[in-house]
Amino acid sequence: MKKYKIAVIPGDGIGPEVIGETIKILERSGEKFGFSFEWQKYPYGAGHYLATGEVMPEDAMEEMSKCDAMLLGAIGDPRVKPGILEQGILLAFRFRFDQYVNLRPAFSLPKVHTPVDLKGVKMDSVVVRENTEDLYMCIGGTTETGELELPVDVSRGKYELKGMVSLKTDPGYPFAAQAAINSRPGVERITRYACELAKKRGEDTVTVVSKSNAVSALYGFFEENAKRVMAEEYPGLKYAMVNVDALCYHLVRNPAAYGVLLCPNLFGDIISDLQAGLAGGLGTAAGGNIGDGLSMFEPVHGSAPDIAGTGRSNPVAAILSGALMLEHLGEQEASKAINCAVSDFLENAAENELPFEFGGAAAFDRVGERIRKYI
Ligand code: NAD
Ligand code: IPM
Ligand code: MN
Repeated sequence: MKKYKIAVIPGDGIGPEVIGETIKILERSGEKFGFSFEWQKYPYGAGHYLATGEVMPEDAMEEMSKCDAMLLGAIGDPRVKPGILEQGILLAFRFRFDQYVNLRPAFSLPKVHTPVDLKGVKMDSVVVRENTEDLYMCIGGTTETGELELPVDVSRGKYELKGMVSLKTDPGYPFAAQAAINSRPGVERITRYACELAKKRGEDTVTVVSKSNAVSALYGFFEENAKRVMAEEYPGLKYAMVNVDALCYHLVRNPAAYGVLLCPNLFGDIISDLQAGLAGGLGTAAGGNIGDGLSMFEPVHGSAPDIAGTGRSNPVAAILSGALMLEHLGEQEASKAINCAVSDFLENAAENELPFEFGGAAAFDRVGERIRKYI
């Protein structure tokens, strides 16, 4: 029997709540479809950091690299300065394992109330977010004196970036600077992924999300390279471009208007939360961080400290991320069974059996238990 070794980082806030339910459902799907799991659990996150001062040790990353996939809840805690854990753990995984695709589908779920009337049309869209570059190079700093010297030594899957950013205001005012990079191989590979996905979904268009009218170098480059790859390698697909501000407007008026949205890193982060909100809540939104090596599956949402420990977390996004993981591992039937179980649960649930986020009164573990019965 096939056994998958999965690195699990439940993380902070509602992370352990939603990952606990996901693991139970994945176990059930394994029993049903003839495979099993070895869960390799890691304690990293706020609790571990506050107790030990350690963020993410290198030897643990090395050990994780031998797993078949990773499952992560959420990272981030109000007791810790923003960025320390998010960059030291979550972004560290994305960069270290070169998970250059952040795949974030958004679709209508049965009976889930959406804030915009879809007039019977189903939302079925997917954000393909570049996941290693853009404003996420972690090259930045602040100065009090007006002089900033930033030594750059950054490693990404396909290259090393070295050098020095040297800036000075006259007169010397305090300022902050952060550098963004989009590389040609970086844009090319994410464009190819988006195009393959559009073909698989039977769609004829890939829409690039841009902002070249204001940020010309960075996003003009992204557009040009995506357009060229599509013209040269995917002549059957139509290239479309929308500026990110207009996209927000169009999405709110017609959430079902788009299929594959190819986004630079920062826009993809923002648009995927908007899509989640339009589909019925962050608790619906699954995600995968996919690369040629170890891939990591996690919901779009964060650690939701405002509801952690209250039972109000919706585990559906994490459970659907588990289904994405199974699809990635080649367990298509089991993955489909989890998606169907979520739909069947929603179709058949009485109002008070739904998660709080969908207007119900069922805690995360009751929701998980009911979904499990439909596998
Ligand atoms: P968030 O996604 O945690 O929460 C935003 C809002 O959505 C909150 O009101 C929350 O209660 C609600 N929400 C989120 N997930 C939910 C779920 N499953 N069920 C019901 N309601 C849900 O975003 P935030 O408040 O900006 O961030 C909180 C912390 O999480 C921060 O430390 C942030 O850096 C971190 N974060 C981590 C990730 C990640 O690990 N992938 C993603 C986003 C934010
Ligand atoms: C996400 C999160 C992360 C991101 C943060 C926590 C670093 O918002 O996964 O969407 O910006 O990518
Ligand atoms: Mn985000």
